Amino acid sequence: MYHLECIECRRKYPETEVIYTCTCGGLLDVVYDYSEINLTKKDLKAPLSVWKYRALLPVSMEPVSLKEGGTPLYRVDRIAKSTGMKEVYVKHEGMNPTGSFKDRGMTVGVTKALELGMKTVACASTGNTSASLAVYGAKAGVPAVVLLPSGKVALGKLAQALMHGAKVLSIRGNFDDALKLVRDLCDREGFYLLNSVNPYRLEGQKTIAFEIADQLGWQAPDRIILPVGNAGNITAIYKGFKELKKLGFIDSVPKMTGIQAEGACPIVKAIKNNAPEISPESKPETVATAIRIGNPVNAIKALNAIRESGGTAETVSDEEIISAQHELASVEGIGVEPASASSIAGLRKLVEMGIIDTDEMVVCVTTGHLLKDSEHVLAVCPKPIEIDATIEAVRKAVFMK
Ligand code: F0G
Repeated sequence: MYHLECIECRRKYPETEVIYTCTCGGLLDVVYDYSEINLTKKDLKAPLSVWKYRALLPVSMEPVSLKEGGTPLYRVDRIAKSTGMKEVYVKHEGMNPTGSFKDRGMTVGVTKALELGMKTVACASTGNTSASLAVYGAKAGVPAVVLLPSGKVALGKLAQALMHGAKVLSIRGNFDDALKLVRDLCDREGFYLLNSVNPYRLEGQKTIAFEIADQLGWQAPDRIILPVGNAGNITAIYKGFKELKKLGFIDSVPKMTGIQAEGACPIVKAIKNNAPEISPESKPETVATAIRIGNPVNAIKALNAIRESGGTAETVSDEEIISAQHELASVEGIGVEPASASSIAGLRKLVEMGIIDTDEMVVCVTTGHLLKDSEHVLAVCPKPIEIDATIEAVRKAVFMK
């Protein structure tokens, strides 16, 4: 029903092979025989979840699942108004079991690890991937090894990786260094690599597109805006929409719009310079540590998704990210981590630049939950007001300007 295929030289590999990139170095994609997939809207009446779309997922055994997906799609009229838009939605992926979209990829990826008989799973991570791998490794009963950039992982994410029992290694280097190391480790030790270079992980993440179209009554929005780090998610969501179009569920595919922080923006530069590939950045830096990545492994796929869909890519400053995070939290009640708020900051900037038309129906994907990074919250919000335990002191403080 499906196989792996190199996106560069088109070499095919059977689904039983443990392989992450082609011998030519190209990225791999999971390719299905769509003529074998008989799926209609009537078959999709079950409540939302990743596994609702099992017919389009490359797994045959009972999945390792914690009920991932089924995240809310909020219509955010106050954000729409403040940005001058008519119709804006937020797909809040922070509502997954571990608080980020990574769970969609991990439920599929860890199940695949079991199918392939792998004994240990591993990843490099800016935090969320490691939290998710630790959790799904625990659920599957498979040891997990995670490599993190020392001092640059939000505490909530680190706490998850530790509590769920992963072996946590803090690398003196950045995410890109950690990814290089874990790829080498997996090759040497036969561990199963679950970064987004693994095409099976992206299959799980494409269900974000399925859910958005499903929640909108089987229509595609005009545009998807999301943060881009290692560039897997933008690739996965684009694939999801393309599959829905191929199967006749939707008529069009949204313009894929990637947002990066000013200090870590190789994809944006490549799009603006019309370059065929990215120039890696050796010292990425941003408050949005989740997307503090200078050499995104899925860059080629992401550039293709952006260009083919007629989308774009833009940078936002750390100040714009923090301000969007505050706005989303305080006017819509949606708590997201800094990286996720870049989608809202990007929407505002692209409308102001006249690149997004105010009539477009836009879905911003917020990838991770506010509670992932509470140290950052304490750093940017006013401190709690400490007072004596008397009603006078309370009343005085409540009405204090
Ligand atoms: N938003 C959040 C909250 C993330 O954790 C990540 C990636 C992204 C956006 C970017 O997604 O890499 O698919 O382009 N976090 C990875 C990690 C790198 O290790 O947790 P991407």
